[in-house]
Amino acid sequence: MALVSGLILVFLVGSICLSEGQFNRLTVGFYDQTCPNAESIVRSVVREAALSDSTIPAVLLRLHFHDCFVEGCDGSILIDNGESAEKNAFGHQGVRGFEVIDKAKAQLEATCHGVVSCADIVALAARDAISLAGGPSYEVPAGRIDGVVSNLSLAGDMPDVSDSIQQLKAKFMRKGLSEKDLVILSAAHTIGTTACFFMTKRLYNFFPGGGSDPTINPILLQELKRKCPENGDVNVRLPIDRGSEETFDIHILQNIRSGFAVLESDAKLNDDETTSSVIDSYFGFFQPPFGPSFEADFVESIIKMGQIGIKTSLEGGVRRICSSFS
Ligand code: HEM
Ligand SMILES: *[C@@H]1O[C@H](CO)[C@@H](O)[C@H](O)[C@H]1NC(C)=O
Repeated sequence: MALVSGLILVFLVGSICLSEGQFNRLTVGFYDQTCPNAESIVRSVVREAALSDSTIPAVLLRLHFHDCFVEGCDGSILIDNGESAEKNAFGHQGVRGFEVIDKAKAQLEATCHGVVSCADIVALAARDAISLAGGPSYEVPAGRIDGVVSNLSLAGDMPDVSDSIQQLKAKFMRKGLSEKDLVILSAAHTIGTTACFFMTKRLYNFFPGGGSDPTINPILLQELKRKCPENGDVNVRLPIDRGSEETFDIHILQNIRSGFAVLESDAKLNDDETTSSVIDSYFGFFQPPFGPSFEADFVESIIKMGQIGIKTSLEGGVRRICSSFS
């Protein structure tokens, strides 16, 4: 009996130590002591980049999503380690913004050497991008560890524009994100553009025998077909939130519920009772402060997304150069 309880005690103590090693809680103001200017340095680099290129805020917001969904928010998407690098994965097609992160990193290294992780820079830059686009401001829990793997074979589970609503829900669920998070985070498409590349199937090959997605409003369908003609240039870009692509606002959800979604995955949010009722909840009788707030919910969901798969110091460190493991 004593032996058994002794073993149980050893087991319990052992698993407590293990779980402490496994947990790494992010905290707001993580760099307050070690690099007090960290957040303002990132902010000024993002602001400057956005001033010279207005597409940058959307690009940086998307980069954060793509970083977090593969191997957790660990900066793995930033690595340049040859042909099999994660960044070359099909699911990351069109992801940009690397040079903005590199620039912020260079300034941070000059100020506080080896302190601020690349994964945190990505999360902070996304926050600054959202507020530059007129979205909500929020505090970013930080303390992410940069990962040490980058392989495109790990990115096979990225959500795809043609996934069914069941697949989208399952992919988010696997990252600890709910159906509500799926809706709210898809609303990040309130800013930015898509290449015609992602529209071809929806416009011309929606069914095995051809044809377009019948859920597209006819006015929008005409517009989209004009901008992205069949067999035209797939690199032409068009706004995802028709009529409000520069401003971070709830307009995208109104577009989605009325047949004006540009991306197929956004339109699919109408295919499911739970996700469509999340959208509807923002257009009910009760508006903030009495009803749900899109901005507050977005902040909650993106902070949640920013905590996916956080690594411990045993699994990585702080890179000196974001595009390399050194
Ligand atoms: C639900 C699954 C999602 C799918 C299938 C999806 C798909 C896409 C596609 C196909 C594009 C166009 C890319 C291009 O042509 O460059 C795009 C753009 C974008 N996505 Fe998503 N996305 C999803 C979720 C998210 C999430 C969770 C976020 C952020 C929280 C996000 C933020 C963005 C932004 C800001 C853009 C515009 C990028 C730009 O202007 O360059 N997306 N997305
Ligand atoms: C990437 O993963 C594939 C398949 O798992 C493996 O064969 C390959 O060696 C990996 N590449 C690198 C650079 O680790």
